[in-house]
Amino acid sequence: MNIMMISGEANPFVKTGGLADVVYSLSQSLASKGHDVSIVLPFYKKIKDKLQYEAELVSTFPVYMSWRVQYCGVFKYHYEGISYYFIDNEQYFYRDGLYGFDDDTERFAYFDLAVVELIAHLNLKLDIIHVHDWQAGMIPLLLKTDYRLKVNEYEPKYVLTIHNPAFQGKFDPYYLGDYFNLSQSYYDNGTVRFDNCASFLKSAIVMCDKITTVSPTHARELLEGNHAYGLETIIRLREHDFVGILNGLDYEEFNPETDKYISPNYNIDTAYKAKRENKEDICKEYGFKDPSLPLFGVVSRLTSQKGIALILDIVPILSGRANVIILGCGQRELEDRATFLSRCYAENVGVCLSYNNPLAHKIYAASDFFLMPSEFEPCGISQMICHRYGTLPIVRHTGGLIDTVNGYDNKNLEFADGFHFEEYSVQALIHPCFTALEVYRDIEKYLVMQENAMRREHTWDNSSEEYLNLYREILDFNGLLCYT
Ligand code: GLC
Repeated sequence: MNIMMISGEANPFVKTGGLADVVYSLSQSLASKGHDVSIVLPFYKKIKDKLQYEAELVSTFPVYMSWRVQYCGVFKYHYEGISYYFIDNEQYFYRDGLYGFDDDTERFAYFDLAVVELIAHLNLKLDIIHVHDWQAGMIPLLLKTDYRLKVNEYEPKYVLTIHNPAFQGKFDPYYLGDYFNLSQSYYDNGTVRFDNCASFLKSAIVMCDKITTVSPTHARELLEGNHAYGLETIIRLREHDFVGILNGLDYEEFNPETDKYISPNYNIDTAYKAKRENKEDICKEYGFKDPSLPLFGVVSRLTSQKGIALILDIVPILSGRANVIILGCGQRELEDRATFLSRCYAENVGVCLSYNNPLAHKIYAASDFFLMPSEFEPCGISQMICHRYGTLPIVRHTGGLIDTVNGYDNKNLEFADGFHFEEYSVQALIHPCFTALEVYRDIEKYLVMQENAMRREHTWDNSSEEYLNLYREILDFNGLLCYT
């Protein structure tokens, strides 16, 4: 099959969250099964500075956005069996950062239009166009209304994956004409209309042949209207084409036996001792008074979705009983509170406000427990990394965290590989934290849970098979059996 992934970010070139991991490792898994996979990304400054002399310029063309005529260069680069296409336009993408700018609607309108041009100019024969989140959301509508593909009597099939329903790419419907060259009728007939705005994501939900989200539980939540941000009514209309497929983990990137950022490396037989050594080192780096205390790790975007406020509330309670290391950046007020706590409780609390991959690996390896009290979590990746590194995640009972962590409830030691709590409150989070401290003192229990965690399977193999079955279903359904 010929599959094109379109996303606002993807490993190994740009990442702000789990989306980048998933687009890359799903693509890799599909490519390893013999399929042709490409990924299209904006040529952000960070990528261009690194690759502009290595990537090949394969096409240039104008992109028409009503009265604007914008340059587009397409750069191609092969990496680990995947073809990357980068959309180059310095006005839109040669800046620090990926999203969050005032002109994001214009930037991603341009991106979506440029991708349509790219497919036409390079005459790509794609079986599946797989768009991720809102940034690529207008592409199915644009392609379906583009005459050039129909002239070839060739039409790809479309899949949307929703990684985060909170980001919907809403914009003033005026820009349908002014950016996308589309008629106002797509707003009037509801194709793109959402909450009195136009929305990239709504458009993709309406236009794609199949819609997925990243765990079965989150799929149910979206249909039931929990953490759906108003999307439930639209998704219900597409219920029969909607499914949750659990994300996997990149087992090569996250492997405590070969991880170059940690020392000593370890496997299931050597985990207990090696983790202690990793812990001692990192505790020394942070100047903690007693490295033998249990270590709670946090690696996360510091945003309200991730439950960071709860973590910051519980830090003073844990301090003295445990050490805590928090890594990540995000909302300013959460960053400030984290810094304040690290100064008040310097003997037990360390904070690093950045995105730092080597340190993230060290924290996964060194921690005994890992805090993930997300308000909502479509899938979550850290809890799976934790399992691989023999670290026990403490998670809220929501979304993909339900599907991937077996919480300890005093009776299920045989299967338990983490801790759960229900209500989104500090009072509720205290319980699993105290249970974790008890487990830490009961070495036998701790070892059983650590082994359960390390034996958990979170590979991409099954999940990519589910995506392939979904692709086959839509291709077969339409009598298109030309793929390999
Ligand atoms: C988003 C979600 C997260 C998910 C990731 C990859 O960041 O918030 O739960 O794991 O996308 O799908």
